[in-house]
Amino acid sequence: MDYLEIKGGKKLSGSVTISGAKNAALPIIAATILSDKKVTLTNLPNVVDIRTLLKLLTMLGGEVDHNKTIANINNGTITSTKAVYEIVSQMRASILVLGPLLARFGECEVSLPGGCAIGQRPIDLHLKALESMGATIEIKGGYVRAEAKDGLKGAKIIFDKITVGGTENIVMAAALAHGTTTIINAAKEPEVEQLCQMIADAGVKIEGIGTNELSIEGTCGKPLNFKTVEIIPDRIEAGTYLCAGAITNSSITLNRVNHGHIRASIDKLESMGCTFELEDDSITIHPSETIKPVSLITIEYPGFPTDMQAQFMALAVMAKGESLIEERLFENRFMHVSELNRLGADIWLKGSTAAVKGVDTLYGADVMATDLRASSALVLAALVAEGTTNVRRIYHLDRGYDDLEGKLSKLGADIVRKKEV
Ligand code: EPZ
Repeated sequence: MDYLEIKGGKKLSGSVTISGAKNAALPIIAATILSDKKVTLTNLPNVVDIRTLLKLLTMLGGEVDHNKTIANINNGTITSTKAVYEIVSQMRASILVLGPLLARFGECEVSLPGGCAIGQRPIDLHLKALESMGATIEIKGGYVRAEAKDGLKGAKIIFDKITVGGTENIVMAAALAHGTTTIINAAKEPEVEQLCQMIADAGVKIEGIGTNELSIEGTCGKPLNFKTVEIIPDRIEAGTYLCAGAITNSSITLNRVNHGHIRASIDKLESMGCTFELEDDSITIHPSETIKPVSLITIEYPGFPTDMQAQFMALAVMAKGESLIEERLFENRFMHVSELNRLGADIWLKGSTAAVKGVDTLYGADVMATDLRASSALVLAALVAEGTTNVRRIYHLDRGYDDLEGKLSKLGADIVRKKEV
């Protein structure tokens, strides 16, 4: 397995280009199942999860021509509606093919995604909503078997909890349903908004895009014809690099960002002493010599994103004072705490809240990544730790960060990918 060897203490400088958003690209790739014609996706991030989902489309019989950031997909050739365990177990977001497969073909079998390091990650809300659209759902042998022989029907859906994936699955299912579907308490993350826009641009009437209440008038089973989609910039990757500038006390510029999508991260970094210069689609961070402690609560967009919690915890480790970080979305998203403490951090957990006492110095050590965002937090801490840190199990990192070590090296970090012998 690969690991990253990082020698801390280097200042960063220069600029970095942010890639397309993994969490926008995944539902958009799934949505191509709603079409029987070719569709082109551009600005895809070059990460493992994208390759995994594209591979799933080919296993279903779809035609995929993928070259790093561009994919030409034609799902007119799909012959199977079974998303098998070996793919879904690699990436739980494969569950996003459930809605579009059911809507297009009237039946499908999708392996239950299983949990992951950060939590149980149930899909009960997805399934309940599909049943209210007339689907029959059976769970057997680790698979969700869904059927809607006469097509899905428009329904009024109220989500008990805001769910990004649940909203995306239902938006895609509703696009081909008979009648209008209303989703109340819908997720309104930018990634959900782009999915809705892609479907609306194909002629489906959607009201409330970008809000918590969506109304989708289905095509009664008629497949869609999509325009080319350029994936939006990755707001979590952008936030991660802003934290890299802040933690190494370096001014760096990020190109190809959407400022509006990273307001919560900018706001918290300002409260920690950073200042910013915003241009059209770029942002420059100017850190403060002293990092101020922070109080964070993770909630749904546009609140502070759970996907930035680990990265801000790494930054809070170097603050002058005690920070409080409350994780409200996932029940086990503090796996990075013990690894940060191995580097010399002083973090204590009490239920869903972490108390982070700032320290003056971190010391390089061998640490282990446990999930995607935890691994980026360990890299951030390693950038300022004295000596050498080896971050292991970076297959987690490769799922969602496009060439992290290459981009950080270009900014001046001393970071090398090595193979475990
Ligand atoms: C998406 O996951 C993202 N993944 C996650 O990013 C992100 O952390 C999460 O949204 C929250 O913003 C992708 O977009 C591929 P949810 P998703 O359904 O859709 C509970 C990353 O690091 N829930 O909004 O799976 C669930 O357990 C990843 O890039 C139910 O109880 O998240 C969680 O507590 C990690 N029942 C909460 O809702 C359901 O049926 C939010 O989950 C569905 C969800």
